[in-house]
Amino acid sequence: MAESMIGLKRSCRCAEVTKNQIGETVTLMGWVQKARNKGGIIFVDLRDRSGIMQLIFENGDIDEEGFVKAGKLRSEFVIAVTGRVEARTGAVNTNLATGELEIRCISLRILSEAETPPFAVEENSKTREEIRLKYRFLDLRRPDLQKNLMVRSRVAQLTRAFMANEGFLEIETPMLIKSTPEGARDYVVPSRVHPGTFYALPQSPQIFKQLLMCSGYDRYIQIVKCFRDEDLRADRQPEFTQIDMELSFVDVDDVIDVNERLLAYLFKEILGVEVQLPIQRMTWQECMDRFGSDKPDLRFGMELKNVSEVVKDCEFAVFKNALAAGGSVRGINAEGQGGMPRKKIDKLVDFAKDYGAKGLAYVAISEDGSYKSSFAKFMKPEEMDALIAAMDGKPGDLLLFAADKNTVVWAALGALRIELARQMDLLDKNEYKFLWVTEFPLLEWSEEEQRFTAMHHPFTMPMEEDWDNIDTDPGCVRAKAYDIVLNGTEIGGGSVRIHQDDIQEKMFEVLGFTKEQAWERFGFLLNAFKYGVPPHAGLAYGLDRLVMLMVQADSIRDVIAFPKVKDASDLMSEAPAAIDEKQLQELCLKVDIPEEE
Ligand code: AMO
Ligand code: AMP
Repeated sequence: MAESMIGLKRSCRCAEVTKNQIGETVTLMGWVQKARNKGGIIFVDLRDRSGIMQLIFENGDIDEEGFVKAGKLRSEFVIAVTGRVEARTGAVNTNLATGELEIRCISLRILSEAETPPFAVEENSKTREEIRLKYRFLDLRRPDLQKNLMVRSRVAQLTRAFMANEGFLEIETPMLIKSTPEGARDYVVPSRVHPGTFYALPQSPQIFKQLLMCSGYDRYIQIVKCFRDEDLRADRQPEFTQIDMELSFVDVDDVIDVNERLLAYLFKEILGVEVQLPIQRMTWQECMDRFGSDKPDLRFGMELKNVSEVVKDCEFAVFKNALAAGGSVRGINAEGQGGMPRKKIDKLVDFAKDYGAKGLAYVAISEDGSYKSSFAKFMKPEEMDALIAAMDGKPGDLLLFAADKNTVVWAALGALRIELARQMDLLDKNEYKFLWVTEFPLLEWSEEEQRFTAMHHPFTMPMEEDWDNIDTDPGCVRAKAYDIVLNGTEIGGGSVRIHQDDIQEKMFEVLGFTKEQAWERFGFLLNAFKYGVPPHAGLAYGLDRLVMLMVQADSIRDVIAFPKVKDASDLMSEAPAAIDEKQLQELCLKVDIPEEE
């Protein structure tokens, strides 16, 4: 029994009815949240994306046939009702925006019936995420997801308006391209017309936005899908959206300036939060030394301390060997955690090991000032005293140390710092701490490839004052690159670009490309650089991540309408899927899956 809506017109959404309309007749359409039949009177909660309105069907207001129909309503039926707006006769529901109102219905049409859904459409669903993702169209009816997607829409809208006002042009770049290097694997699309060749889906519009600068467009913005075939995490999706921009005739400060104002505008308009400008800046080196991370969460302290000098003469082999190998010994002080049970400390040690540490040395100081320690037996008492003093260790504190190469020590203690903050409940979700991280290293040594790779991408400008060292000490050259970090998440990143062909050529050489290889991969950009290129710089936000933090979602999946799961599949449509033999033939493709070992 699906009736048509011919002759009816919706007056407004459910929660848009106001007290001023009491006495008026309105027509509402939506989904039945729940229906309760109390004999002569039937109560129905009607839901649409604005919220819920209570409907009342009473024999007499509505004709017999309509009343019988109302008795058949079940959750998720789609209905249209016409009725009179009234002040609620029963208990006022202060949880609802429309809690003081109800609609006394005079007519009802059932536009669509619904089977019993596999889970209730309600806020804070306890249903397993796999089930919800399989029935994403139902999941998306839930008010929390609807709110997230509405915020997302508003972020996109306000960004476009703000940037247009700043003179940015919205220009689309292609999706079927030759590879753009951002360090992940490409998703590829086979060409039918040119058998044996493939397009790559863009990991970002990087090269195209630089070409647009070469073409004189000056200020570009695009809200754009990007594709990266990489391991997924809570803040990563294989396809995600960037707010991508590029500017000509600018340096670092110009990019930072317009972006600070954009962020302040978005947070004010959407959350009513005042972002203090200018946003704090910190060099990459300082971030690593103080927080063990290039995306530090500044909502709490617990900073890393380098105690290498303090322990340099001790006999504890773990410390001694790490220092002898050119590494360091660093620690953090988890204040007030000195009473942590041994089992829990062991868990922290395992946690640190997940980040590459070989172990974690600890000192648990009791309230009386005595301490338990995993390594005191290898140390002189005065060495322990000096170490505790260096860490500001007070009665009741827990000191944790890692000794290794710097990269391992930073990774382990940086992650441990966040884990402890979680356990100690130090992370205030309503606090927004922004940070610009600047002066990143230009290059990163890849153990796997035994060569330097670009830390950001190969078009990033080195800092002028370091460039002379590119041959003697490439690892120490810093870049004009910057990330914007919010509460420990990298929400965006960018750089000033190289616009001089000699520097670009040298950069490719350092990265291990021959001239031929560089031209073969990026020839179209290098060619453009021969015909007049303005100095330019840019930045891209992860829109999904930005919205995730704004709505305080735990996962990026909660702000994407149709997300993918960890293995990059879509549980609803069941993509990816095999294609049929005919399609394969057209594309001249043969599938050859190796046998499982
Ligand atoms: P980058 O690679 O740092 O820079 O990406 C910019 C921002 O995009 C977001 N992001 C992601 N979000 C969700 N899922 C992913 N898999 C994912 N990968 C990245 C992050 C990140 O900060 N072209 C350069 C920008 C530039 O130099 O202008 C670029 O893409 O929030
Ligand atoms: P061991 O003598 O190997 O039992 O180590 C003594 C203590 O040092 C134990 O608490 C280990 O967890 C810890 N430890 C081992 N390796 C490291 C390391 N690389 N950094 C810090 N502590 C470590």
